[in-house]
Amino acid sequence: MPDVMRAELWHAMADAAGLIRADGSIGETIYGEMTTLAADTGSVNLGQGAPGTDAPSDLIEAATTAMREGFNQYAPGQGHHEFLAAVAEQRRRDFSQPVAEDQVLFTCGATEALTASILALLPRGGTVLTFEPFYDAYPAAVTAAGGSLVTVPILPAPDGGFAPDWNLFDEVVAASHPSIIIVNTPHNPTGFVFSTADLKRIGDAAIAADAWILTDEVYEQLVLDGGVHVPPATAVADPKRVVTVSSAGKSWNATGWKIGWVIAEPRVREAIQAVKQFLTFTSGGPLQIAVARMLAEDGGFVDENRESLRARAEVLVSACRSVPGAHASIPASGYFTVMDFSELTDLDAFAINERLAERFSLVGIPVPALCREGSAAHQAYRASIRYSFCKSPADVDRAAQLFRSLAAELDQDPDTLRS
Ligand SMILES: Cc1ncc(COP(=O)(O)O)c(C=O)c1O
Repeated sequence: MPDVMRAELWHAMADAAGLIRADGSIGETIYGEMTTLAADTGSVNLGQGAPGTDAPSDLIEAATTAMREGFNQYAPGQGHHEFLAAVAEQRRRDFSQPVAEDQVLFTCGATEALTASILALLPRGGTVLTFEPFYDAYPAAVTAAGGSLVTVPILPAPDGGFAPDWNLFDEVVAASHPSIIIVNTPHNPTGFVFSTADLKRIGDAAIAADAWILTDEVYEQLVLDGGVHVPPATAVADPKRVVTVSSAGKSWNATGWKIGWVIAEPRVREAIQAVKQFLTFTSGGPLQIAVARMLAEDGGFVDENRESLRARAEVLVSACRSVPGAHASIPASGYFTVMDFSELTDLDAFAINERLAERFSLVGIPVPALCREGSAAHQAYRASIRYSFCKSPADVDRAAQLFRSLAAELDQDPDTLRS
């Protein structure tokens, strides 16, 4: 058998995503590892951001109908016409972003959209700047494209929220001349929502560096604190350099469908499509039609979903905040709260997570796993764990009870998690 190590790319991609263990073996993603830890310890799995409530029955019916209508063969490479039109209309209606159909490309989730965009637009040897912590697909895609990644931390702010280190942003842009700036707003895991002023600042930096702005807006419908999601394309001075990426999974509790999209100037969309053509060409034909019908209808499910998430966040976060000495964030958006245990222990987030799994049946995602070893973000989130409240109400209730038992135990013995 040929030696798999003869080809370097897969190994470099896995390494960039932190999947190569110290002994050289290939590890699972942090989500897989934490799912196993939860199963082994009988814990509530607040790890992966996979909803514990189902997709709406209207969406499921629409998919069944589309299958019966015969949308079962290859869809066009750009996506079904009905889908492209619905995405353009939804962007105009929900976000006042002017979008024409020839700017839209269907992708197999936001992940393919991001990877195809990076492969298409990053010059070989080019630099990509992103904010940290980050979604684990970014470094793998940047490595596949032969580039390098630089990061700017989003850090806990004195007001209890989070904020990017803007001084460092200016420095990193000036020093690294990025070809692409990735902006994930609303941001996973902090829930930070970039304001119009923040986005203008990024837009100006992109003009100065002649960079693309690649967005990741998968939580676009899930701003929970009464604020608004501002698509970068509507805020920057030069929207032609923005490549907008989003998907239906988070808004519609249908993460397994992997229905995503890119919006870009037609020539840019064509370039990205040229790459996407040889990744999947096309997928999810009837599901594209079903999502198109839901996007077009604006039937209220997304509002219900947001309300339901807000209620689950309230249950989980208030229990997390009852834990003396720990600090849990109040999420401005998305699926997660970030809980900092550093005042309670010298252990790192991985060790705390294991301790909490074994003793309190609670599992989350250690935030350093979403950072690069040795970075400012890695240090700042050394003892922080991300907990998902998008789980079923029963799981969220159980987790809330378990956090309250942890609080009671810490009241008795403040050294419970010490070392
Ligand atoms: C920030 C971010 N981007 C992208 C994705 C993936 O989106 P999709 O499932 O549509 O590929 C996720 C999923 O967790 C995410 O959190």
